[in-house]
Amino acid sequence: MRARRLAERDESLARLHALAEEQAALRRVATLVAGDADPPQVFAKVCAEVGALLGVDSTNLVRFESADAAKVVGGWGRHGAPVFPAGADVPLDGDTAVVKVSRSGRPERVDDYTDLEGELSERLRRLGIASAVAAPIKVAGRLWGAVVASSGRPYDFPPDTEERIAGFAELVADALANADAREQLAASRARIVEAGDAERRRLERNLHDGAQQRLVSLALRLREVEANLDTDLDAARRGLASARDELGLALEELRELARGIHPAILSDRGLGPALDALVARAPVAVRITELPSARLPEPVEAAAYYLVAEALTNVSKHAGATEATVRVGRTGDRVRIEVRDDGVGGAAVRDGSGLRGLADRLEALGGRLRVDSPPGGGTTVIGDVPLA
Ligand SMILES: Nc1ncnc2c1ncn2[C@@H]1O[C@H](COP(=O)(O)OP(=O)(O)OP(=O)(O)O)[C@@H](O)[C@H]1O
Ligand SMILES: [Mg+2]
Repeated sequence: MRARRLAERDESLARLHALAEEQAALRRVATLVAGDADPPQVFAKVCAEVGALLGVDSTNLVRFESADAAKVVGGWGRHGAPVFPAGADVPLDGDTAVVKVSRSGRPERVDDYTDLEGELSERLRRLGIASAVAAPIKVAGRLWGAVVASSGRPYDFPPDTEERIAGFAELVADALANADAREQLAASRARIVEAGDAERRRLERNLHDGAQQRLVSLALRLREVEANLDTDLDAARRGLASARDELGLALEELRELARGIHPAILSDRGLGPALDALVARAPVAVRITELPSARLPEPVEAAAYYLVAEALTNVSKHAGATEATVRVGRTGDRVRIEVRDDGVGGAAVRDGSGLRGLADRLEALGGRLRVDSPPGGGTTVIGDVPLA
């Protein structure tokens, strides 16, 4: 009787101790986040704390990027233990613990990686990882990623590991959401700056090769005219005529360049006529089903114009569609821009491409880009932008 009571007391003391350790670990992560630490530092810290709490060989933090791809954003390992390197992009293929979490949204384990198929399992085996337990991290109800504990030995995790790792994953979700939002923001800022630099270089090149050359040759021609004025009036007259032509070409070049920077029709006549011009160039039938009744702020009109331009270019390049619709609707102080096609679907936002640039443009205005594109089910590109 007494022995049982003592055993029960020991067990509840051990549980209390584990809880206190968990709380202390959580506090250390929260302190780091509050101190404005770099997101990669926060991710690494979460891995280290999970590793120490569970007493495991190595841990990783993985962010799901799409249905079939993820990024390893953090990693930690005991000295000499196999650990997946942070920063790696990984395919979500085969039945690894993380892939299972991405499908079920619940804690999962793999006790033996020996016979698993897929590129990711192969990479894990090559690193020397033999078993793993992973738990989901959910941010605002959405599956954000997973935290995974790994071992170089098969069947290395006791039955309560799922519960313990899942408990901690739940607790750190908010801290991670914060750090992650900061990281994404920094990345999108960097891309905007890069895009701005690239655009400036393009303008410089176009000015140099175009209008600048024309103006140089115009100056030479005028000097010839000047020299001919006293001696050969006919030649001077011919020189002036050709200088006038040269000037016309220089003006044309500058006008073209200005049009590339900001479509003239958009500032002169507004979104409706500008979208009409885009639609007229599209190779498939495009209907505009809704437009705002009044002019919108210039950056919002420009964002809407570029969204429709990119989405319709994509329709002609990738979709194999027969028709598309364009909608720009205003509800209260938000504007929703939508381009829908009935093509092959399967579109996704990839780094360095048109849709990524659009997402950055909208995010810079406090808005968002969404791409809804199930394979075989057509594509809808949706921009949502606040007016304020
Ligand atoms: N309407 C669409 N229908 C089907 N697939 C699409 C559609 N739009 C985009 N995609 C797919 O999504 C990918 C990403 O599109 P995105 O516009 O970002 O890049 P891109 O068109 O390939 O390159 P860029 O825009 O830089 O010229 C495309 O490569 C294509 O495979
Ligand atoms: Mg594109």
